Amino acid sequence: MKVACIGAGPAGLYFAISMKLRDPAHEIEIFERNAPGVTFGWGVVFSDQTVENLQANDPKSAEVIASEFAHWDDIDVHIRGECITSSGHGFIGIGRKRLLEILQDRARELGVTLQFNAECDPTDPKWRDYDLVIASDGANSRFRDANPEAFGVDIDVRKNKFVWLGTSKVFDAFTFAFEETEHGWIWAHAYRFAPDCSTFIVECSEETWRRYGFDTMEQAESIAACENLFAKYLDGHSLQSNASHLVGSAAWLNFRRIKCDRWSSGNVILLGDAAHTAHFSIGSGTKLALEDAIKLADVLNRPGLGLEAAMDEYVAERNLEVLKLQNSARNSTEWFETLERYLHFEPLQFAYSLLTRSQRISHENLRLRDREWLEGVERWFWKRATDGKSNKTAPPMFAPFKMREMEVANRITVSPMAMYSAVDGVPNDFHLVHLGERALGGAGLLFTEMTCVSPEGRISPGCTGMWNDEHVAAWKRIVDFVHANSTAKICLQLGHSGAKGSTRLGWEGNDVPLDEGNWPVMSAGDVAWSPVNQVPRPMTRADMDIVRDQFVAAVRMGIECGFDMVELHAAHGYLLSSFITPLQNNRTDEYGGSLENRLRYPLEVFAAMRAAWPSDRPMSVRISATDWAGENGITPKDAVEIGEAFAREGADLIDVSAGQTWAEQQPVYGRMFQTPFSDRIRNEGRLATMAVGNIYEPDHANSILAAGRADLVALARPHLIDPMWTLRAAAQLDYRDIHIPPQYLNGMSQLARNLKREAEAAAALRV
Ligand SMILES: Cc1cc2nc3c(=O)[nH]c(=O)nc-3n(C[C@H](O)[C@H](O)[C@H](O)COP(=O)(O)OP(=O)(O)OC[C@H]3O[C@@H](n4cnc5c(N)ncnc54)[C@H](O)[C@@H]3O)c2cc1C
Ligand SMILES: Cc1cc2nc3c(=O)[nH]c(=O)nc-3n(C[C@H](O)[C@H](O)[C@H](O)COP(=O)(O)O)c2cc1C
Repeated sequence: MKVACIGAGPAGLYFAISMKLRDPAHEIEIFERNAPGVTFGWGVVFSDQTVENLQANDPKSAEVIASEFAHWDDIDVHIRGECITSSGHGFIGIGRKRLLEILQDRARELGVTLQFNAECDPTDPKWRDYDLVIASDGANSRFRDANPEAFGVDIDVRKNKFVWLGTSKVFDAFTFAFEETEHGWIWAHAYRFAPDCSTFIVECSEETWRRYGFDTMEQAESIAACENLFAKYLDGHSLQSNASHLVGSAAWLNFRRIKCDRWSSGNVILLGDAAHTAHFSIGSGTKLALEDAIKLADVLNRPGLGLEAAMDEYVAERNLEVLKLQNSARNSTEWFETLERYLHFEPLQFAYSLLTRSQRISHENLRLRDREWLEGVERWFWKRATDGKSNKTAPPMFAPFKMREMEVANRITVSPMAMYSAVDGVPNDFHLVHLGERALGGAGLLFTEMTCVSPEGRISPGCTGMWNDEHVAAWKRIVDFVHANSTAKICLQLGHSGAKGSTRLGWEGNDVPLDEGNWPVMSAGDVAWSPVNQVPRPMTRADMDIVRDQFVAAVRMGIECGFDMVELHAAHGYLLSSFITPLQNNRTDEYGGSLENRLRYPLEVFAAMRAAWPSDRPMSVRISATDWAGENGITPKDAVEIGEAFAREGADLIDVSAGQTWAEQQPVYGRMFQTPFSDRIRNEGRLATMAVGNIYEPDHANSILAAGRADLVALARPHLIDPMWTLRAAAQLDYRDIHIPPQYLNGMSQLARNLKREAEAAAALRV
């Protein structure tokens, strides 16, 4: 094959090497616009896995690279005069220039032709003479941008400004240094990559960058300003840039997240940063480029595999890897872009939040890396959770949480779940067993399902209600059981179905109208939930008075039953949510239009409930923090305002759910997918929140809580299958100080013993 590689970065060089290793007969030419030895950037970081991949592909270059690695274990986080050090992170780094030299030597040795000072023009007809043109020309690829439609290019220019500098100061740890200036926060990511050299990336928000005047400074002035800002970390060493002699490189940049729907067109194949980028804060761009190169060379040299099939396999495998990394990289990028949100944290929690920002590192990963440090975090968490009374070193999920005079024994909650099993709104033995069993299972707090304030406020004929004495008696029986047999607190979730009412039982068809016996529905506006649902009647002021009073009456009944807490359900497109979301609220009076207007009625209901509910008992509100409809619906930014508005009316907890407010929603699912909304409401609004949504491992819960992304963690579906979720987690984590129903003590100790034995056997196998 006759192949041209555009660019002698890691991707182009390593691809050329990998091709020659597989078939020395290939004719490979690399064209690089810069002179040899001239490149941007300083050091790059690798993982052990990447090193193994290099070793398997080309042991010769891998050995040279490995012999020159700088290794370090610690991460230092400097903030507000404190340095938080955690260990066990195991990084490997090498100078970018040195890496390229090693790869250039190896490529030459294998017979690759290298041409420097060779700017390539994608429109040059000479490229047609090659079987393949590998566009390994980096993030600003001219070969990709000459034909953006063919590649389906998607570029997201991120908000922060950064500059990639170097210094002769040797940092023994991977160092994050956060500095507050009169113009805002500026921080550095610094790490050693050679015995006498470190990378020093400076980053800040665009506003800080402008206020500081970096936008009008010459490069030398900018560097001097950074030296001054970070003087205490540099110990007299200077900062240097190597961007000045590069073609087309500016000193300060905005990171550009690049992805492409297609990675080839005609004889051009995109490789490395030309096809995709991953934010520098997770340090995986070079790894991706090198691993792309290995896989592409593999498929191109596999006998019998045509070019089309080769490309299909290459893209399918690499794209998955890229998507995973870009996902983590997005979390990490956003963390730095929303840094202000976390600056009120104490330094230890700030460092924890930083270390877990990409969601690739969890609580238990941190325990494996540095047990002592993690236990310090756990002690800190418990101390805060108990106003300094406890010195316990234990997982955060088992720490108590107080709202008004109610204290929950731990942070795990059984999320509200409709069981569609009531008759005329009356909960029965099924509900007693269902809620009772989950109370015995160890969760600190149980929510009832959405319990409706009137017959016509039900979603289905099977929904529970709270509008007559029979309901009070039936609920009281359940509440009494929970209180008598567990330490769990129980919260009554009250709601009204609105336009989503008069539908079948959940398992007979979600949101599908009844075959017969439908009742008329009302909502904020006259927007039907879907073409098959009824068009609702917009509520009149008289309707609003009646429904508000029904909520208040239900609260009073809740007091009679002995509930510990009440929640107003203002999420998921039901009646109160239909006021909040602009997608359902098409009113033109003072209850429609602006967010302030749309919140007016839900807040009125909440305030009336709060006035009726004892002041020593807490109340929460469940909201949908996004309509999953972009700017057309509720956005996470609106959700902060919504949370704040309810908090002003006395909400002690914002139960942060999302979506289900619009039949056409476009949710982005994943592990803990709604937690970022809770994080935002908690840390921008400084409110107590509960996170929910695909949280299913104890490790998820502990990571969320310790990172300050929520105060409570709710699990719904995991509790359907495992009512004992919390007790099982306690056994897994070897936590004993939890209430176990005495009838179950034997089972718990056996489970703990078995889990311990299994863990020891697994550890022995690893050795
Ligand atoms: C601040 C910062 C820090 C980073 N830190 C890390 C890290 O720690 N670890 C990590 O793995 N990655 C890191 N990266 C990412 C890493 O630099 C890239 O992912 C990696 O360099 C991609 O390799 P590449 O070969 O695809 O592209 P590049 O390294 O960009 O190479 C492209 C080459 O093509 C040449 N070229 C471009 N256009 C032409 C043309 N028209 N004609 C001829 N030649 C051309 C360029 O001069 C360049 O040499 C970082 C990136 C940045 C910006
Ligand atoms: C069967 C079922 C019924 C539900 N009923 C309610 C409900 O009555 N009220 C409510 O606010 N959320 C309800 N939800 C939503 C859950 O409380 C929770 O927010 C959602 O399932 C996401 O959490 P998970 O991933 O842990 O299941 C229900 C969920 C399920 C699975």
